[in-house]
Amino acid sequence: MKVHGRRRVPGDKSISHRALMLSALATGPSQLTGLLTSADIQSTATVLRALGVEIPMIGNDPVVVNGVGAAGLRLPTGDLDAGNSGTTARLMSGILAARPYRSRLIGDASLSKRPMGRVSKPLSEMGAKFEFVNGDGLPMTIIGSALRGITWRSESASAQVKSALLLAGFTAGVPVEVHEPALSRDHTERMMRGRGVDVRSEGAVATLVPGATMRALDVQVPGDPSSAAFFAALAALATGGEIELPGVCANPGRTGVFRVLDRMGARIGWEDMSDEGGEPVATLIAAPRTLKGVTIAPDEVPSLIDELPMLACVAARASGETRVTGAGELRVKESDRIALVVKNLRAVGVDAEELPDGFVVRGSDHPLSGRIETEGDHRIAMAFGVLSAATGGMIDIDDRDCVGVSYPDFWNDLGQATV
Ligand code: S3P
Repeated sequence: MKVHGRRRVPGDKSISHRALMLSALATGPSQLTGLLTSADIQSTATVLRALGVEIPMIGNDPVVVNGVGAAGLRLPTGDLDAGNSGTTARLMSGILAARPYRSRLIGDASLSKRPMGRVSKPLSEMGAKFEFVNGDGLPMTIIGSALRGITWRSESASAQVKSALLLAGFTAGVPVEVHEPALSRDHTERMMRGRGVDVRSEGAVATLVPGATMRALDVQVPGDPSSAAFFAALAALATGGEIELPGVCANPGRTGVFRVLDRMGARIGWEDMSDEGGEPVATLIAAPRTLKGVTIAPDEVPSLIDELPMLACVAARASGETRVTGAGELRVKESDRIALVVKNLRAVGVDAEELPDGFVVRGSDHPLSGRIETEGDHRIAMAFGVLSAATGGMIDIDDRDCVGVSYPDFWNDLGQATV
């Protein structure tokens, strides 16, 4: 299989969520161009609409959001449905914790199993109250109030937790300082600064100084590096050709996957680096070369956490062993991605084993075939879709439609990238 072509990947999911939320918290119109059109982003738009923010249909580019300001978010009349989206649930919980009313966040079966204690705990310390009926999963009732400031030491590098606290601090007008064990993606900090909010970043500490108002801002959403990773991996696994992906967000907190592909032996290059709204953006070039297994260290994990299923599939075709540790967070994503990746690799004939906080994959060039159980997890479907395309199409995927939460046109784009 050879790769070819130049393709623009869809808008970044993390930045699209934040662009909608911060535009709602601003006053006046923000024009958002290149917003991701996927189910997760629809979930954020749906929740914001239920709070009284006018958001036109997502999909007609650009989308203009008329911000209502933090105080303008009104009491919702029903449950707020975050669907499959952890980012919607966790970031919105920060905003809602600072509004003086009761609201209830719900989600689909997968999201309802994911831990919300990581946000409810610090937000409770700030003064909000939470009610759960199902461990610390959704549904989650939030009883918001006037919050106090907080200095919080996160147990893991989580941009969702950090962002929830920064959003709570902004909405309540109180200081927030978040210390992380390693820096997680910093899109919230960059975008808040771009809108005039005083957020400082020093190493893995983010500090919000209250007092500023959130300005409306036009945003050009860059391409999603997590989506680009599937095509870079496809190129790495190919027998020839080259793929070019313009306009990809090159924020170092998101590009660990490309550094690892490069280390595995693939040809990876960045061209035309520029800055769009505080985020580095560039054209990514990827092409095949002989691949070898690598060790992915815990300190690299935050910058490639969502790409580990794809890297596990690339490792299946690399010579030698690939070992990942320090990635226990993978167990609480849209599925238990450690268990599911290893189970599916084995199901198609790959030598793989689970570690408590990672996995080991031993690559080979054996023919691969079998059926993948995605448990509705989009990144599992796409990772094995790439592996299937690269190895002769004998890998069957039980639920191809689940890609809709982050990349609805994935199968079409994958077909077009190969010859
Ligand atoms: C995200 C943060 C990460 C990531 C998720 C998106 C975000 O989650 O896995 O897909 O947009 O903030 P954690 O904050 O749980 O690490």
